[in-house]
This record gives sequence, C-alpha cells and structure tokens, in this order.
Amino acid sequence: MEAWSLYRGGMSHQTESGWDFEPVYGPERLDGFDPAEKLGVPGEYPFTRGVYPTMYTQRPWTMRQYAGFGTAAESNQRYHQLIDAGTMGLSVAFDLPTQMGYDSDAEIAHGEVGKVGVAIDSIDDMRLLFDRIPLDQVSTSMTINAPGSVLLLLYQLVAEEQGVSGDKLTGTIQNDVLKEYIARGTYIYPPKESLRLISDIFAYCQTELPRWNTISISGYHMAEAGATPAQEIAFTLADGIEYVRTAVAAGLDVDTFAPRLSFFFVSRTTLLEEVAKFRAARRIWAQVMRDEFGAKNPKSLMLRFHTQTAGVQLTAQQPEVNLVRVAIQGLAAVLGGTQSLHTNSYDEAIALPTEKAARLALRTQQVLAYETDITATVDPFAGSYVVESLTDEVEAAARELMDRVEEFGGAVAAIEKGFQKQEIERSAYRIAQEIDSAERVVVGLNKYKVAEEEPYEPLRVDPAIEAQQVERLAKLRAERDQAAVDKALADLQNAARGNNNCLYPMKEALKARATVGEVCNALRAVWGVYVPADTF
Ligand code: 3HC
Repeated sequence: MEAWSLYRGGMSHQTESGWDFEPVYGPERLDGFDPAEKLGVPGEYPFTRGVYPTMYTQRPWTMRQYAGFGTAAESNQRYHQLIDAGTMGLSVAFDLPTQMGYDSDAEIAHGEVGKVGVAIDSIDDMRLLFDRIPLDQVSTSMTINAPGSVLLLLYQLVAEEQGVSGDKLTGTIQNDVLKEYIARGTYIYPPKESLRLISDIFAYCQTELPRWNTISISGYHMAEAGATPAQEIAFTLADGIEYVRTAVAAGLDVDTFAPRLSFFFVSRTTLLEEVAKFRAARRIWAQVMRDEFGAKNPKSLMLRFHTQTAGVQLTAQQPEVNLVRVAIQGLAAVLGGTQSLHTNSYDEAIALPTEKAARLALRTQQVLAYETDITATVDPFAGSYVVESLTDEVEAAARELMDRVEEFGGAVAAIEKGFQKQEIERSAYRIAQEIDSAERVVVGLNKYKVAEEEPYEPLRVDPAIEAQQVERLAKLRAERDQAAVDKALADLQNAARGNNNCLYPMKEALKARATVGEVCNALRAVWGVYVPADTF
C-alpha cells in the first residue's frame, strides 16, 4: 500500500442516480484481531489506548496556547490574559532571530525582530517575559530548537532569581533539530554537533532539572509541510530513535532520560484517521523502546504528546469557518489521547491572533473539556471496526517508512540524502493538486465560496520594537562586566571542543549577561553551521 494518507477527501462521483460517495475506509471486519495484544488496557503496554489508566477522567489535558510576539513586556501581558482566561500551561513563541540564535541588533535580524514571536536577547528580557509569573506554579513550553539550551538556562536563571530551584521547574523545550533540517529550517549547527548538544541537555536536565521534558520530537511541522499521517509519525519516531541512540552512545541509561522525552503532532479535520494515527504512534514507540532499547521503566515506553490543530487547514476566506475546523481538530486530538493541546485562532491565516480570537480558541478547548462527555471515558473508539483497522493500516504504513529510513542508516543519514524531504514534497504536491481540482474539498476556498469577503482588521506588530530591542542591547553591553562575559564564552568554547557538558559554562555566560547571539556565535565559531546538501 502506498504509504500516504488513506483519506483522499470527498471521494464522490456524479452518476446517473446522483452522487455516489465511495467510502475510502471500509467497514472493516476485524478477523483475528486480538484486543489483548493490540490494545491492552489504558496506561499499560503497548499504550494504544492511552498513556495513563484514567486519562482525562481525573483531569483534562493541558490547555496550552502557543503565544508570543513583540517585546517581552507585550508577551508577558498576553500570558497574563491567557492565565486569567484559564489556560493551564504556557507556550512561548520566539521571534525568528531568537530561534536562529541571533541578537535583535544583528544585521540578519533586521525586519524580523518581534514578528513571529517574542524577541529574547538576554536574561533581562527573560526576566520581563515571566514578570509576576511564579515559575514553580506553571509548566512552560518553549518552541526553541538549535538555541534550546540557551533559553532553557535563561529560564532556570530567572527561576533562581525567584527562589525556585531546578527540581521544581516543569516544562518542555522543543529542542528537536532533526525536523528543522527536514521541514522547518531553524537549525544552526551540523547534525553531529546538534545531536551532541541535545545529549548534553538530556544529561544536564537529569541532574539539574529532573522534571523538565527535554525534547518535543515533532511531526507537526512535517505535517504542515505536506506529510501524510503515516509519514508524520514515521519520520518523527525515526528522529526519536536517532536521539535515543545518541544519548545511549553518550553513556546515558535509557530509563533515566527516556521518561522525559515528549512528542508533538498535528491534528487535522480527518478525525477518524487522526485518532488512528495517535493510537498507532503510541503502539510503535512502546514496541521500539522495549525491543530495540531494552527500556524497562514503563514511563520510558509512554509516548506523551502535545497536539496543535492544523494551521495549514485554516483559510483566509470566510475565516469564521475556521472555528468549526479547529473544534473538530481539537476533538480529534482529545479522542486520540493527547496530553497537551493548542487550538489555533480562527484568524491566524490572516495575521497574528487578536486577543478575542485567542480567547475563543481557548474557549473551544473548555467546551470540549467541560460541556461534552468525552472526558468521561478512555479511548472511546476502542473496538471500533473502522478505527481499529485504520490504526493497523496507519501503523503498517508508518513502519514501512521507518524501515526505509533505517535502510539509509537512520534519520540523519536519510536527511543527508534528502529522503524525508522528498517524500513530504511528493505528498504536498499531490494534496495541492487535489485541492486545485476540488477533489479535496476546502469549504470557502474551492467550494461554497462567497462573492465578497468581509473586511478584517488584523493585529499589527509595532515596527518600533526593533529599535527598542537594539537600544536595550546597547545598554546591557555597556553595563555588564565584559571580562566575565569573555571568560565564560571562552570556557564554553573549550567545552564545545572537548567532551565536557556545554550547559554548565553556558549558564555562567548567560548569568554574566552574555546575549543569546553571543553564546550561539561562540559555538558557531567552534562547530561551524549546517549547509543542506543540494539534493536537487
Ligand atoms: N494520570 C496520572 N498522571 C497524570 C494524568 C493521569 N490521567 N494526567 C496527567 N498526569 C500527570 C503527569 O504524569 C505529569 O506529572 P509529571 O510531570 O510528574 O510526570 C503531570 O500530571 C502533567 O501531565 P502531562 O505531563 O501529561 O502534561 P503536561 O502538559 O505537563 O506535558 C507534554 C505534556 C506533551 C508531556 C509536554 O512535553 C508538553 O507540554 N509539551 C508541549 C509542547 C508545546 O507546547 N509545543 C508547542 C509547539 S508550537 C510550534 O512548534 C510552532 C508552531 O508554529 C507550530
């Protein structure tokens, strides 16, 4: 079976008698289906039905809305708005310069400062970002990859200033650079050095931040780039295997770091296939961790994940229709057993979400959690003919792709040959053709259009932010002890050249008010930067 989405949109054909809808998913029989082997019970191997025995019956998933723009002060205000509106976890969006390890006053940062997320250059900005937010009482996700160690340490330094010790901190850094090479692009260093730094983070957190989730191995961005459900979980789990192999090779015990690995997937409107996808992913990961890595701790086998509703399915046309899409996508994530969820704002296809749109997105989750009965049970689709057969089919397609990655020698080797990228681009092209031909219906875009779209006033980011950040950086550099910064950066470079954990000298540099860009440049000078192979 071709390993791409089983769902091919509204497969309907005009016939003499009218429309003849050809179902893509059969009403499958489940001959020889052994629930004990395939499903087990929730909270136990192979975790098909969910990672916890009680799932949402005791507490709903974490409602964790991704947010951040402009300066630290502006984003801090949005976080307080979200906390007041009932959000259960924070999720920081950084601007592109921060994500790429450049300061706001770097030439390459011009025009991007504070645009797609918050600008963070130093401990001063990080302190402002979490102003009046007690870090021992929130869990914070940070979507930061190549500079993940830098932002994690800034977070820990601000917590220390609040009197909060590392063992009290909960949260996640995305820290998944392999998917950046495949689909998102915010990489810095070559794969070998990136994997070394990620392994350093695993080791550092084991000792200093034991409740921190060290990585969020992501399929979301590959899905948004066009990956099908089977490709999304196959390439994500293959990346996960690469990370585990790296950490084991660095001498870490799999049962000490694996419980703190986490994952991140998309949730599309194709609800049945998405529920099957999440269930298949849990089952594959549990089997790989048990059989390939010999993990014994049940928490090492649990695929805990965050979900974000599919941004690529939002339309700028009739944007209010996105409220319906996001509700369905959010429902799919919960029926599939997510641990944490971000629901997109209905206006995101147009611009940064307004406060009202962001609140509506959160209210969508609250309706799902408190007005429906989906939290009253665990894995409600268990035993469903179509979902169980879809789970098997998505699992088979994903394993087939994982085997092909293995034939290259693993995720990094396959990335260097452009395999994942080419597979995703092929799917993206097919989906685009189906939308263009209206075979795949997008309401408001290729069907059920309106003659004239209503005007919409988007939220705009003040362009003066860049000047503000540049001024703050000049002041910081004038005030700090430059000799202390220089020594700490030199110590970091020595660690990077050798085998010592980079995070300890990095923390000293940041404490001395070295900037994000200076720390990342110090490592660029030692490790160089990744230049994608020209695979075309
Ligand atoms: N039974 C027993 N225990 C339970 C339970 C249950 N039913 N439900 C929850 N718990 C416990 C858990 O064990 C955990 O305890 P621990 O911390 O001691 O282990 C605690 O309650 C919190 O539960 P979870 O860990 O399940 O939930 P969290 O929300 O804390 O963590 C996560 C979820 C997926 C593990 C974590 O990694 C996370 O929050 N990830 C978020 C990632 C994220 O937000 N990414 C944003 C990406 S945006 C982006 O990439 C860019 C954009 O463009 C797409």
